[in-house]
Amino acid sequence: MSEALYEAQIDLAPVRERTIALIGYGNHGRSHGLNLRDYGVERILVALREGSASREKAEADGFNVVSLAEAAQRADIVSILAADEAHKEIWETQLAPNRKPGQALIFCHGFSIDYGLIDPPADCDVILAAAKGPGGAVRSAFEAGGGLVGFWGVHQDASGQAEAIAKAYLAGLGCGRAGIYESSFKEEALADILGEQAVLVGGMCALAREGFEQLVAAGISPRMAYIDTVHELKYIADLIHQRGIHGMYAAISDTAEFGAHEVEGAIREAVRPVFQAIVKDVTAGDFARRWVADYEQGRETLHAMRAEAGEHALEEAGREIRGAGARTR
Ligand SMILES: NC(=O)c1ccc[n+]([C@@H]2O[C@H](COP(=O)([O-])OP(=O)(O)OC[C@H]3O[C@@H](n4cnc5c(N)ncnc54)[C@H](OP(=O)(O)O)[C@@H]3O)[C@@H](O)[C@H]2O)c1
Repeated sequence: MSEALYEAQIDLAPVRERTIALIGYGNHGRSHGLNLRDYGVERILVALREGSASREKAEADGFNVVSLAEAAQRADIVSILAADEAHKEIWETQLAPNRKPGQALIFCHGFSIDYGLIDPPADCDVILAAAKGPGGAVRSAFEAGGGLVGFWGVHQDASGQAEAIAKAYLAGLGCGRAGIYESSFKEEALADILGEQAVLVGGMCALAREGFEQLVAAGISPRMAYIDTVHELKYIADLIHQRGIHGMYAAISDTAEFGAHEVEGAIREAVRPVFQAIVKDVTAGDFARRWVADYEQGRETLHAMRAEAGEHALEEAGREIRGAGARTR
């Protein structure tokens, strides 16, 4: 594992001396713009599509808003902070036809490069600069005097400056306060997607829904089932965030700990083949291809899956519990 780098070890000149275009002004785009500016990066362009709902916010924050084509013509560094599924389309229709030769490309997720959705020409630096966490946290951690852990990687180094730009960009996000580490597009892409699919989102929701259904089938009221399989997740997640898994176990009842240690092994056995299949699917690029194809067809599959998930019986129980909580506040 690489050693951590901190703020004092990093020269910010590679980003302060260049014009940076941020493609997109969502969670990451806004946080990157505000943090970089607070670190003294003066030449920032925010590039938005025509009719973008984010224009007003970017202008209110004092940024110069331009089209994607103009950003591609003017910037020395283009940081692609738009939704992953749109990268291919943005690259092919807006950036590639207008780009300034030698321009560096920065990505904050390994997705588009590792799965071959974008194949940049040899004259540009292709850099991963991932502040690990949701976009809003890049700004909130910075405002609280800290930063998120950052990972950098270089896919192409045409200028000989790619590594210096990567480190400077992450330092400009505030990651130098938490630690900046070397990684790669491949490592970041798989870790991020496996984490969200198998554990943090897909896995966690599957366990919650299955637990809820089993309890209701055993005659437990949906209200009680919801509290014990969904609502209390927050308390456990907070404990893990603060103390790690071992520390969480130390903070809960011995009854819960004894039972959980007993069943963990069986649950892991059951999900192992599913997780292995996810690793294969993601690594082969099949997930990325399915998702981009769905985006290009109007997100039909996503909309259908979202609608079906919204009809699950635990949603009604959840609304009741949250409503009761709101009435007592
Ligand atoms: N490193 C990490 O740990 C981490 C964590 C989360 C996310 N990410 C990455 O951060 C990137 C952005 O995520 P986010 O959470 O900031 O997304 P977001 O809040 O949804 O913002 C997406 C932005 O992309 C723009 N956009 C979408 N489609 C576009 C198109 N066809 N043409 C032009 N602009 C388009 C949107 O424009 P409008 O404003 O006009 O709608 C919006 O400004 C993604 O690559 C994601 O994977 C990385």
